[in-house]
Amino acid sequence: MKKRFWINFVLVVTTVCGAAVCMPGCKKKTPTSTETEAKPKAKETRLMSANEETFGQTSDGRGINLYTLTNTNGLKARITNYGAILVSLEVPDRNGRLADITLGFDALEGYLKGHPYFGATVGRYANRIGKARFVLDGVEYKLAANNGENHLHGGIKGFDKVVWKPEDLRADDNEALVKMSYVSEDGEEGYPGNLACTVTYALTKDNELKMSYEAETDKTTVVNLTNHSYFNLAGQGTGDILGHELKLNADKYTPVDEGLIPTGEIRSVKDSPMDFTLPMSIGSRIKQVGNGYDHNYVLNSGGGSLAWAARAYEPTSGRIMEIHTTEPGVQLYTGNFLDGSLTGKAGKAYKKHYAFCLETQHFPDSPNKPNFPSVVLQPGQKYTSVTVHKFYTR
Ligand code: GLA
Repeated sequence: MKKRFWINFVLVVTTVCGAAVCMPGCKKKTPTSTETEAKPKAKETRLMSANEETFGQTSDGRGINLYTLTNTNGLKARITNYGAILVSLEVPDRNGRLADITLGFDALEGYLKGHPYFGATVGRYANRIGKARFVLDGVEYKLAANNGENHLHGGIKGFDKVVWKPEDLRADDNEALVKMSYVSEDGEEGYPGNLACTVTYALTKDNELKMSYEAETDKTTVVNLTNHSYFNLAGQGTGDILGHELKLNADKYTPVDEGLIPTGEIRSVKDSPMDFTLPMSIGSRIKQVGNGYDHNYVLNSGGGSLAWAARAYEPTSGRIMEIHTTEPGVQLYTGNFLDGSLTGKAGKAYKKHYAFCLETQHFPDSPNKPNFPSVVLQPGQKYTSVTVHKFYTR
């Protein structure tokens, strides 16, 4: 049987005569014959916990785990080491009712069958690289073309479809975390250099889900990692996200051609349906942008240090998600390619605009756009990227 362990589970038992705290390792006092067991007037409080269980097996027989991180307020994130995918994220509404706000599948099978990056860790290069090629130090690298003539989200077998190695699982008073690693070999999907990566998901006591990435290479390469969660703050599968109010810390965006490759221009959002500098419902102008939003916004922060990027508010539940990131860009994608053909968690069919993604990132096609912030990683340098999703209600 698969090893199952609780890293930290603390039960706080409040009795009539005072509080008794049962820490891990301590035993509950057994009542003597003259005592009667205190009635469970007791209130149970969960503290931070990090737990591992079996999720299933890949077709080549590799065992896959599911990690559950829980915080004091009952927020719960489930993550698998297949694709380092965020499988679910339960957060409270304004009345304290929890709902899973991410699209995905109940079982590993759904993820193995293929899906549009639900919750996945995306790499080695998130988003598109035009004509699936780039030149680095005078050498042309040809990548897998998996989106027409372009390269998308790391290629045919990107980081979302590989098995990540569990590195750490723990909880203390402040956070519960799981850390995983993956070594992408020199030449994988066409990229140069062995790239050693880690991703850490940490759920904090302040209702934040923090995703941290690190990578090192032994040859000059390009890196751009992100998380591709599909959010619906009313609860996954409940309907479209057109009524969500969105505010972005971005005065500019990168316009794209028909293949969704940036033209290289950095354009103001002013007086256009791209403008989310003031809170606007996602649906208010979506018809004016063709199939929906699928654009990279240029964050005013410029990247480099953790800064406010986006806030989404869902009026019926009151849930708010705020995103801070060290990245210079964020892709707003409104689930334009969802068409109801995929059935996800709890049997819900995922239709067009049933979720939105805010993928923090460097700009698409940066390896071919010298005017965009650099995505080049040299041996001896460390790639780091942090994105924090904070949840509260109104
Ligand atoms: C992204 C891209 C979209 C689409 C989805 C996955 O974020 O920008 O065009 O490919 O991933 O379906």
